[in-house]
Amino acid sequence: MFHHRHGCGWPFLLLLLLLLFPFDESSLLRGQAAAADSHRVVLYPQSTRVSSIVSSKYRTAFHFQPPKNWINDPNGPLYYKGLYHLFYQYNPGSVVPGNKTWAHSVSADLVNWLRLESALDRTEPYDAKGCWSGSVTVLADGRPAILYTGADDVKNQAQCIAFPSNSSDPYLREWTKPSSNPVIRPDGPGLTPNQFRDPTTGWTGPDGQWRIAVGAELDGYSAALLYKSEDFVSWSRVDHLLYSSNSSTMWECPDFFAALPGNTSGLDLSAAIPNRAKHVLKMSLDSCDKYMVGVYDLEADKFVPDNVVDDRRLWLRIDYGNYYASKSFFDAKKGRRIIWGWANESDSSSDDAAKGWAGIQALPRTIWLDSDGSQLLQWPVEEVESLRRNETNHQGIELKKGDMFEIKGTDTLQADVEIEFEPGTMDEADAFDPSWLLNTEKHCREADASAPGGLGPFGLVVLASDDMEEHTAVHFRVYKSKHKHMILMCSDLRRSSLRSGLYTPAYGGFFEFDLEKEKKISLRTLIDRSAVESFGGGGRVCIMARVYPVALVDDRGAHMYAFNNGTTAVMVSQLKAWSMKRAQVNVKKG
Ligand SMILES: *[C@@H]1O[C@H](CO)[C@@H](O)[C@H](O)[C@H]1NC(C)=O
Ligand SMILES: *[C@@H]1O[C@H](CO)[C@@H](O)[C@H](O)[C@H]1NC(C)=O
Ligand SMILES: *[C@@H]1O[C@H](CO)[C@@H](O)[C@H](O)[C@H]1NC(C)=O
Ligand SMILES: *[C@@H]1O[C@H](CO)[C@@H](O)[C@H](O)[C@H]1NC(C)=O
Ligand SMILES: *[C@@H]1O[C@H](CO)[C@@H](O)[C@H](O)[C@H]1NC(C)=O
Ligand SMILES: *[C@@H]1O[C@H](CO)[C@@H](O)[C@H](O)[C@H]1NC(C)=O
Ligand SMILES: *[C@@H]1O[C@H](CO)[C@@H](O)[C@H](O)[C@H]1NC(C)=O
Repeated sequence: MFHHRHGCGWPFLLLLLLLLFPFDESSLLRGQAAAADSHRVVLYPQSTRVSSIVSSKYRTAFHFQPPKNWINDPNGPLYYKGLYHLFYQYNPGSVVPGNKTWAHSVSADLVNWLRLESALDRTEPYDAKGCWSGSVTVLADGRPAILYTGADDVKNQAQCIAFPSNSSDPYLREWTKPSSNPVIRPDGPGLTPNQFRDPTTGWTGPDGQWRIAVGAELDGYSAALLYKSEDFVSWSRVDHLLYSSNSSTMWECPDFFAALPGNTSGLDLSAAIPNRAKHVLKMSLDSCDKYMVGVYDLEADKFVPDNVVDDRRLWLRIDYGNYYASKSFFDAKKGRRIIWGWANESDSSSDDAAKGWAGIQALPRTIWLDSDGSQLLQWPVEEVESLRRNETNHQGIELKKGDMFEIKGTDTLQADVEIEFEPGTMDEADAFDPSWLLNTEKHCREADASAPGGLGPFGLVVLASDDMEEHTAVHFRVYKSKHKHMILMCSDLRRSSLRSGLYTPAYGGFFEFDLEKEKKISLRTLIDRSAVESFGGGGRVCIMARVYPVALVDDRGAHMYAFNNGTTAVMVSQLKAWSMKRAQVNVKKG
């Protein structure tokens, strides 16, 4: 049961491994015997190691996942009567996509989750092929309403509504689909019935009417369609769009919200929006989540981006790694906006079949606009810090070219690390080339952690085996642009595992930085077994990644280092690391 993605067959691979890693015959024979023993064991003959591909050790300890099966998009997150709710796309019968339902969990603290019964199942002709993604809106009378996409028997899509059977129940255990469903059909000019989905949370305009946006392909380009309603049940299509772009063909999972520049508090879409507020339109395409910052022109009832960028490769991204279909909500408990996003597996579907599970949600993140309103910043919700144990603290570590500082005293498989780098001088920073922005992954492959630059690479090495044969590097490189500095952040998975058949890109994103003013470049990385989630420059670039090191499964442990491979020395002014306790995530059914 050897699965691989990149088209080279097992005999070829074995030959390659033989050339690269000579081993004695007896270890191979031992391996074959073990392989015959169990379908769940896959062998790696490159050394005497025998590793199971499908170890439960890859299951995360504090990221959201159900006990088994396939999950994808987070749906309709909300805070209601003292509980956080998270619904998500779930195939109740299998580890592959299909037969989607809305699974449901609740939490008092966004860290520990209780699994409830399914909120929406495929019970009606209009959702026979799936209850797909959508949102929850709390109506004026305090009642929440789900809007979701129903896929009928030929996967044509329509928007459907559901209400709690008992809205006094803080668990919102049971939902009812009224007979008026579907409430929005793919009618009207230009629409494609199988590209019409993912309704947003509703907001009200100056006329008091509800509005929502729906992702669609319209005449071959991508659109956020606008719909209006008096009562949230009877909807009509507005004859203009909230926003559209012809640089792509379909947007999934639009998300639309307001934020005040430089203010970490969130805004409630159903309350009055201050004049100074900006609006953000997020859309999912090209396997990633992109967004634009602009204003919501109330007169025209349209979103107007501050900058229209034609080339979608240059659009800002919520996360530069493995992160899709994100959905935000206003948390009335703490007055913040929180965003959830899905990270898929980066192993093969046969690995998933053997593991019995596929997909996790990235950590819930507080999300806000920076002070000049040009980009979003994100940070794991503060509740995550309640899992921290055994703090390690270092100051003033100088890292010269080639130095590696081992971070000890922390459980390196479940850790939270915060580190601040302070370059002594920026004189040696190399020149920035704007063409790199078009393909940051390519640039991260070229600007490898072992390729010395003027200033950088420096950063963290996580999940490293004794000999560094396996390791994941999360690192920065500083470039001099015309008036400012541009910082590249990479999360390089190319050596994250000795296993083959994994998806191991070198993810990367750039952010502008006023190094003269801020002096320090910060990195926070949360390591959770098969998840490495990083926040650079105080949350300016976020990179979610999935890794499957053999060392983790073998119980050989892993090392964690701060390093510098750039010509200029950098000072680690502050380094804090914690072990992370396991959270109670869906272990019990409510
Ligand atoms: C969906 O469910 C049907 C039975 O209702 C089953 O035959 C089919 O294999 C399932 N498909 C997936 C992809 O899980
Ligand atoms: C609705 O929920 C409330 C709170 O849990 C409960 O007290 C009440 O009995 C429920 N009503 C019905 C009809 O189930
Ligand atoms: C595509 O978008 C560009 C820029 O917004 C615009 O100039 C052009 O007319 C559009 N083309 C079509 C076919 O809509
Ligand atoms: C941030 O926004 C909140 C909510 O609108 C407001 O109460 C608070 O005063 C603002 N803070 C600052 C510093 O402007
Ligand atoms: C999920 O994983 C694969 C790698 O196997 C990637 O190519 C794909 O685009 C990912 N993302 C989504 C949103 O499916
Ligand atoms: C954390 O501290 C506790 C109590 O001092 C200790 O038992 C445990 O081994 C420590 N864990 C790690 C990973 O160092
Ligand atoms: C730093 O560079 C050295 C020499 O090229 C290399 O052996 C080492 O692996 C590099 N460190 C990282 C984290 O890539």
